[in-house]
Amino acid sequence: MSYPIIAIDGPAASGKGTLSRNIAEKLGYAHMDTGSLYRAVAFEVLEMGGDPENADDALKGADSLANKIKNDDPSSSGFILHNAKLRGDEVAQAASVVAAMEPVRKQLVILQRTFAQNPGEGYQGAVLDGRDIGTVICPEADVKLFVTANIEVRAGRRMKELQSRGIEATNGTVLEDMRARDARDTERKSSPLKPAEDAVMLDTSQLSESEVLEKALEIIQGKMSGPTIS
Ligand code: DC
Repeated sequence: MSYPIIAIDGPAASGKGTLSRNIAEKLGYAHMDTGSLYRAVAFEVLEMGGDPENADDALKGADSLANKIKNDDPSSSGFILHNAKLRGDEVAQAASVVAAMEPVRKQLVILQRTFAQNPGEGYQGAVLDGRDIGTVICPEADVKLFVTANIEVRAGRRMKELQSRGIEATNGTVLEDMRARDARDTERKSSPLKPAEDAVMLDTSQLSESEVLEKALEIIQGKMSGPTIS
């Protein structure tokens, strides 16, 4: 049996994570935040005292994560991908470094495809968000959205998120970090961030969370026959 797949790609803080969660909830689909996989690899590397720039250390991190995920329960609050430490900026920067390495990406492809094809009992389909879902992981996805927002808006959102977690940062450093991460994500050789040819662009710069969801649901309904939207 094959399930519908919705692929959502876009740069950091574009609003794709929130949108993906909202779509999944609305449609009764399972959701995978694939960025958390790369963050978790980076976290493993840092925990092991390794260097994210070192390809051997990065692959060790990916192997270690794959093993842990196999033996972990995704529904438990202690699940490795739910670790709050993955959300910090040091991990985010290291994630974009390990994500540029082909062997690391290969290790994570199967995990993502398996999830897309088997979203789990009780779910009607799968929503995956990331950078290469529509282009590499699920080129067969039923709907592909590419979510964007201008960099000042994205840096502002990131700043708010950091403040809400009590983390001090300045506008200048957040903007600079975001530019560095955008450059690494879009300029890398392996699966760079770019819209799939058949992706629908969605600019969230001027939209509220509910407006973004409304627009996305319109696009989904236009592309798919009959997802039940309550
Ligand atoms: O979406 P995020 O900020 O949590 O992603 C963290 C890093 O992981 C980001 O810099 C790019 C990388 N990533 C990727 O290369 N491919 C994906 N499908 C998801 C994330």
